[in-house]
Amino acid sequence: MSKLSTSIPVIAIDGPSASGKGSVAELVAEALGFHYLDSGAIYRIVAYASQQQNIAWDHAAAIASLTSHLSIQFAQGEILLNGTNITSAVRSEEMGRGASEVAVHPAVRYALLDLQKQFRQSPGLVADGRDMASVVFPDAALKIFLTANVEVRAQRRFLQLRNRGLDAHLETILNDLQQRDFRDSQRSAAPLKQMLDALLLDTTERTIQEAVDFILNAYKKI
Ligand code: DC
Repeated sequence: MSKLSTSIPVIAIDGPSASGKGSVAELVAEALGFHYLDSGAIYRIVAYASQQQNIAWDHAAAIASLTSHLSIQFAQGEILLNGTNITSAVRSEEMGRGASEVAVHPAVRYALLDLQKQFRQSPGLVADGRDMASVVFPDAALKIFLTANVEVRAQRRFLQLRNRGLDAHLETILNDLQQRDFRDSQRSAAPLKQMLDALLLDTTERTIQEAVDFILNAYKKI
């Protein structure tokens, strides 16, 4: 990390699964010409790589050591792991669950810290996840806590999966989101929570574009 990197502005967007923070963060990054970090994708990749190597998701030490051998590339919305395109595999509900399980371990989170910080490149970064404002970029220029009511999030995820031609059950999705919310917010290492200096952005009754405009306006004011 260069000394200068801390002067590069970061917009940290944290929130629960399926809140729409990924789509919003990407559009904000595009509007500002900033880089984008989808930190959830990194946890998903780790869950996927562990499964590939038959390492159980509760085996913290083995997973933490595996992270140092991963070569991850993000290119035009695609995710490459050691040269192989694993985009659709890591976007699955199974890897969402796996990510939430491997993310519980402090050793795994610590092992991924530098990798995430390296995304802070000029002219700026929009980073989304659970602990962007609290742990990875505590000096972020703008902190947003983006959330929505769990039923609305379940409905959005359901439509997303259906539109991709995948089999989806609303009840199962809702239960899964509730379990993930619980695990992500109750864990002791970097739990999901709104920081005191973060702005709350509830998208239950807002469109993606309205959420993007809210963030761009807030960024203009700082
Ligand atoms: O944002 P997502 O749904 O792709 O994230 C998948 C899981 O990864 C999420 O349930 C918890 C974990 N995660 C985390 O612990 N910290 C982050 N910064 C991002 C994701």
